[in-house]
Amino acid sequence: MRHQVCIIGGGPSGLLLCLLLRRAGVDAIVLEQRSRAYVLGRIRAGVLEQGLVDILHHAGVGQRLAAEGFVHDGTLIVAHGRRVHIDFKALTGKTVTIYGQTEVTRDLYDALDAMGAPVLHEAEGVTIHGAETDAPYVTFTRGGQAQRIDCDYIAGCDGFHGVSRRTIPEALRQEFEHVYPFGWLGILSETPPLHHELVYAGHERGFALCSMRNANLSRHYLQVPLTDRVEDWTDETFWAELRRRLPPDLAEVLVTGPSIEKSIAPLRSFISEPMSWGRLFLAGDAAHIVPPTGAKGLNLAASDVWYLSQALIAQYQGDAAPLAGYSAQALARVWKASRFSWSMTRMLHSFPSEGPFLARMQAAEVDYLAGAPAAQTALAENYVGLPY
Ligand code: APR
Ligand code: PHB
Repeated sequence: MRHQVCIIGGGPSGLLLCLLLRRAGVDAIVLEQRSRAYVLGRIRAGVLEQGLVDILHHAGVGQRLAAEGFVHDGTLIVAHGRRVHIDFKALTGKTVTIYGQTEVTRDLYDALDAMGAPVLHEAEGVTIHGAETDAPYVTFTRGGQAQRIDCDYIAGCDGFHGVSRRTIPEALRQEFEHVYPFGWLGILSETPPLHHELVYAGHERGFALCSMRNANLSRHYLQVPLTDRVEDWTDETFWAELRRRLPPDLAEVLVTGPSIEKSIAPLRSFISEPMSWGRLFLAGDAAHIVPPTGAKGLNLAASDVWYLSQALIAQYQGDAAPLAGYSAQALARVWKASRFSWSMTRMLHSFPSEGPFLARMQAAEVDYLAGAPAAQTALAENYVGLPY
């Protein structure tokens, strides 16, 4: 087989890249190791920056999002006895949209199917060859058959555990990592959201987040020790702990019900530099991970994919500069979003091992935020997404 661009990984990054390229006449193919049902079964984040919403419209997959997504003008931060409403719209003129990553993925599959784009699932043992040469290719097996795709460029969109990043020789790669001493226990329940906006709660017992997918589907998270296992938490203990971490008036109106999904995810900040090597280009979780407190994971994948798609399209039109500058361009935004995610995580979680000094610093930060429109604007600007 021969295609212009071979995309490894059929998560949101790979699918969106494929769609943007094919809409511009570039022949791209996606290789995904899992089944489509598996990919669609993963519950992920649900806050879309305006930039991502605009890209989805540009790619022709904005209809369901426009009909079913919820536009949020702000968010509520409750911590250290303070209640801070961050009014995105008033402070920045921008908003975010609540629409599950799973739904984005479904819309991308539907659009790719409609245009007959090749998305090959259950591609095993994907291996990248000759990325540093002018004739790269990818090998894999599918249905027991060995296959080879020759291409001009390879896009590594295969997430944190994928093969693409590790194909770049270690000596040419620098990895930056910060692992947080806790995880997030998340549950999905068919209950109404706590509040009309997301509620980020900092509490001495640990952080909590009350998010949502729609009027009768809620997503809630609790900061938990890394040693906890999902089996340690019944629905009852989850709801009781969430109530304890919310201010009384919100705890009182919390509607509980059986969970339909429950999982624990560790929190980490990770960035791998550079994001390209020869004809291989990384995008999304393959190159970086942010802790979820700033809702940036999917949005950062989207800005990478936007830059990369535009650079590849320019390359085929005879302009090589954007592709040569892709890694530096993407990383500049990645570092800023990582800083924001780290600072939100730092401000709102409990770090018992760091003692009372940090706790007082956090209280002072929230106190400052509550009274300083400039600080609220800085938070809002980052939350709605830095421009790209
Ligand atoms: N070969 C083929 N596919 C692979 C391989 C491989 N060796 N390794 C991983 N994959 C696939 C995974 O099965 C997954 O479907 O690559 C895909 C990567 O998808 P994600 O992990 O979702 O990463 P990405 O598409 O960059 O999405 C951005 O933003 O909200 C965050 O972490 C969240 O997934 C989200 C991310
Ligand atoms: C979610 O709805 O899953 C969600 C929302 C905001 C975050 C993280 C996760 O910061």
